[in-house]
Amino acid sequence: MSGAPHEDIDAHSGTATTGHEWDGIRELNTPLPKWWLYILYATIVWAIGYIIVYPAIPLISGHTPGVAGWTSRGAVTQELAQLTQQRAPMTSTLEKASFSEITKDERLRTFALAQGRAAFGDNCAPCHGAGGGGAFSFPNLNDDDWIWGGSLEAIQQTIQYGIRSTHPDTRIGIMPAFAQILNTKEIGQLVNHVRALGGLTTENTYDKPLADRLFGEQCAACHGDGGKGNIELGAPNLVDSIWLFGSDKASILQTLARGRASMMPAWNGRLDDTTIKALSVYVQSLGGVKTVP
Ligand code: HEC
Ligand code: HEC
Repeated sequence: MSGAPHEDIDAHSGTATTGHEWDGIRELNTPLPKWWLYILYATIVWAIGYIIVYPAIPLISGHTPGVAGWTSRGAVTQELAQLTQQRAPMTSTLEKASFSEITKDERLRTFALAQGRAAFGDNCAPCHGAGGGGAFSFPNLNDDDWIWGGSLEAIQQTIQYGIRSTHPDTRIGIMPAFAQILNTKEIGQLVNHVRALGGLTTENTYDKPLADRLFGEQCAACHGDGGKGNIELGAPNLVDSIWLFGSDKASILQTLARGRASMMPAWNGRLDDTTIKALSVYVQSLGGVKTVP
């Protein structure tokens, strides 16, 4: 290395060298372009300004507050307050509206659907699935098959008081355990019968006249003579090929032998009446119903 003065010009490129040299290789002195440098200085100035105005530098507890007094939490709170204010007229209209008024007023209905969709995602999706698709023991709400009724009033009642919930006004329906009431052969016949009702294959041992008689004696009181179900008792329709607890032989055997009692919580007191109203409109719309039947 030599400390030679910088006027040393590289003959090949015509660029000045820094004077540094290693084994005959010399370092060219190529300055940064001016435009690049100005942008760099501008960002530094902007950063200093930002640090002064906004919260920026982390301290041991907290951070520098910035002279503008802005916080992201404060900004969200403000936006939410604005949104609530904007929605207030619609919310209070919805609060007072009856279901038939909501159904007739397209704007109000659209508002209710949006509120209902948001509340559904927060409260109902964990059990019923994001789009209301359901799962084992949690009914699909996208079909127009309703265990407890599909009118807006019926859906509202289901949501308000729940099913087999702890609320005193809860809906209750009992699917008894038949293991103590019927023998294994009779239960086997009924498993076949339930599958036949649902349009599924049966075993060769299926004795339809016997199964018909057993069904009439033990099951028809709740599920109806033809197995079409009863919304007063929450006894599902058995002839619609929609299964809450599975349609394979083992699942049906379990249903008949041990009984079933799935639980839907009551939302009265946890959600306000307007939200429950919006949810009813939304849930009914999932089933493809456009107007109150
Ligand atoms: C802890 C799980 C759970 C949550 C949370 C839940 N549900 Fe349910 N829901 C159920 C179960 C289980 C049933 C079926 C009960 C039965 O077998 O009759 C049900 C049934 C229903 C029904 C009746 C369906 C029919 O066919 O008649 C409606 C409507 C309903 N839920 C809406 C909602 C709404 C709206 C929410 C949110 C506010 C919600 N559910 C939250 C578990 C849940
Ligand atoms: C006291 C009324 C009652 C009687 C009697 C009754 N059930 Fe039920 N059954 C219900 C109720 C209520 C449910 C729904 C349980 C739930 O949702 O948790 C149900 C559910 C079922 C299911 C499940 C349906 C599905 O979609 O997965 C089957 C299958 C069934 N019952 C068959 C029978 C058969 C067969 C008999 C006669 C041996 C019978 N039930 C007798 C009330 C009854």
